[in-house]
Amino acid sequence: MLYLTAALVFGGLTAALALGLIVAERFLVNYGICKLDINAGETPLELEGGQTLLSALYSNEIFIPSACGGKGSCGHCKITVDSGGGPLLPTETPYLSRSEIRSNVRLACQVKIREDIFVRIPSDLMDVKLFNASVEHVRKLTHDTREVRFKLAEPIEISQRPGQYIQVQAPSPEGPVFRAYSISSPAYDINAVELMVRLVPGGIGSTYIHELQEGDPVTFTGPYGEFYLNDDPSVEIVCVGGGCGMAPMKNIIYSIYENTPDRVCWLFFGCRTTEDIFYLEEFTTLAEKHPSLKVIYALSDELIDGQQWDGETGFVHLAVDKHLEANIDRQAFLCGPPPMIDAVMRVLEDKGLAEQNIFYDKFN
Ligand code: FES
Repeated sequence: MLYLTAALVFGGLTAALALGLIVAERFLVNYGICKLDINAGETPLELEGGQTLLSALYSNEIFIPSACGGKGSCGHCKITVDSGGGPLLPTETPYLSRSEIRSNVRLACQVKIREDIFVRIPSDLMDVKLFNASVEHVRKLTHDTREVRFKLAEPIEISQRPGQYIQVQAPSPEGPVFRAYSISSPAYDINAVELMVRLVPGGIGSTYIHELQEGDPVTFTGPYGEFYLNDDPSVEIVCVGGGCGMAPMKNIIYSIYENTPDRVCWLFFGCRTTEDIFYLEEFTTLAEKHPSLKVIYALSDELIDGQQWDGETGFVHLAVDKHLEANIDRQAFLCGPPPMIDAVMRVLEDKGLAEQNIFYDKFN
């Protein structure tokens, strides 16, 4: 009993002390004006200390990816902090690899500016912009997936690489949050951005987007992402998507056929049932125009009695294994659930594809 009382008293004191420190930091500690040096620039930014690095960058129109609203739970806001970031926090370590920790990569939402700070941000991220747009059209693709097209208002043009994504600002009870969606419209469609969004029950971003109507205003930042298409037309392209993992594939394929009409591309799309199929007609028409495009859809669920289906059946990695010959110069883009990506990666590596030629984006 005595031990229990002592433990409770100790726990209470520790909690009170921690709370006291947070309150003291919030209201009593004044860090004054601190310098924020980005990429060893000639003119560091001067800003109020005490704020997080993520919000300091955001208020200076440097839009680091963030899918959790700065709560330290998405791991997207990584940047390199050379000095002035304070010690690495336990909230950061689950999202950082050993080599990232050795290279001073930090989560910008967890780093507080308390002194002059020196950071490095890749030029791609420095080019990310905030866009105001309006909904141009909404189209139902399946029972739970919509295509939504945003017409850009300010700025009126976007320069994106096929396979990149944007972060849409969605309202939430705790204020605006950002959610990431791949761009499905091709790179040459510079005045608009199209997405395909599956409704996730209770999902803040997908619920918001599914409720949008034509003409509604939207705000997003972008483009983000590290998919790099090899420009050499002799390199075959393999796209494998599952569910909304089709979005970047549509962008990649249409962008390719705009400039290189004979390039060999393979599109594999995995879904469960015929009800989950979309864009099959569109891609079949494109393949008639460009016979070097091979379109293969695979259904993983058993067909219902009497159902007509002349595509592949089984998981999509089996279709990849069946159709692709080994040891051909290729680049692959994979997007979909983690088990699908892992299985396809194994098949592609068995076919002789080097890891650096496989780009992937895992999501559930
Ligand atoms: S914004 Fe999500 S972890 Fe930093």
